Amino acid sequence: MKENSVKDILNKAEEKHSLDKEEIITLLQSGGDELIRAADGVRKKYAGDGIYIRALIEFSNYCTRTCYYCGLRAENNNVQRYRMSPDEIVNTAYAAIDKGLRTIVLQSGEDCAFVMDELCRIVERIKKKDAAVTLSIGEKTYKEYKSLKSAGADRYLLRIETTNKELYQKYHPKMSFENRLRCLEDLRTLGYEVGTGSLIGLEGQTAEMIAEDILFFKKIDADMIGLGVFIPHPDTPLGCTAAGNFDLALNAVAVTRLLLPDINIPATTAMETLRPNGRLLVLSAGANVVMLNAVENSEQKKDYSIYPDKAGVNEGLEESLAALKNSLAKIGREIIVSKGFRYNNRGE
Ligand code: 5AD
Repeated sequence: MKENSVKDILNKAEEKHSLDKEEIITLLQSGGDELIRAADGVRKKYAGDGIYIRALIEFSNYCTRTCYYCGLRAENNNVQRYRMSPDEIVNTAYAAIDKGLRTIVLQSGEDCAFVMDELCRIVERIKKKDAAVTLSIGEKTYKEYKSLKSAGADRYLLRIETTNKELYQKYHPKMSFENRLRCLEDLRTLGYEVGTGSLIGLEGQTAEMIAEDILFFKKIDADMIGLGVFIPHPDTPLGCTAAGNFDLALNAVAVTRLLLPDINIPATTAMETLRPNGRLLVLSAGANVVMLNAVENSEQKKDYSIYPDKAGVNEGLEESLAALKNSLAKIGREIIVSKGFRYNNRGE
């Protein structure tokens, strides 16, 4: 059987936003500049030229999980653990809103010390201002997700990390793939905008698995997809394995944009960390969102060491905003002040 050429596959993707697994694999492996251009075109048509900025508040680096790749894993004793107080979190959010940001992302390790009630009060206080609230605090029960939604949370990020069950179980000891799927389903049922995504470049991961991830994003009709590239952290069991391939991750972003034309796709910090100017490359390959760290305490930012040498930890929010504006001008894009829901991409 003759394999379809990249050009044919891209034509089909641009027209139908649907591809089969083999076609996705071909693009991931040999899409090249044509793939990047096609994704950039689809982004422009369906999501526009504006860039949404999210203010990221990493409010606790305590974590009960032991994911093999992550520097915050419970078994890593070399981390200086911190937990921001509710007032610190809310004040950091308000300061970001005053600087014109309209989405606050509250992220933490899976920290049991934060009780639901406390989290709900924090969400309620932030929601008194004109901003969307996104949570990224891991696996919770339906009831907990429901309380947070009632408190005003708009969106939730929970990467599936990999849809390959075997690989998932290998890197997430004592966790359950089924429970992660259950979480994503519950979030959707409760009316959150749902973000998920994968880690590209874990040892043992194949292009076929990444293609399956992208088909999964399409199947659940995710509203946001964050694709990170694996960066080894020395204090983890994967500390001596190789980093993920930047170009493969870039291609995965591009294919995701082709198949889910109107969603929000961030240019992730991992991509900027692995390659200088990585963020601009990702924004030119289908992405339309940037998350900026809103915490001003640089010690805390350093201690949120999911992987080493994370980009941007030495800058304050004001500085990162200015730098971003400058670099966006180079690619003819600009920040727009918006809560940046998926439906905003259609001018609704
Ligand atoms: N390299 C890149 N990304 C990582 N994450 C965790 N550890 C690493 C690493 N070593 C990502 C996971 C998680 C997100 C918050 O950070 O995908 O979902």
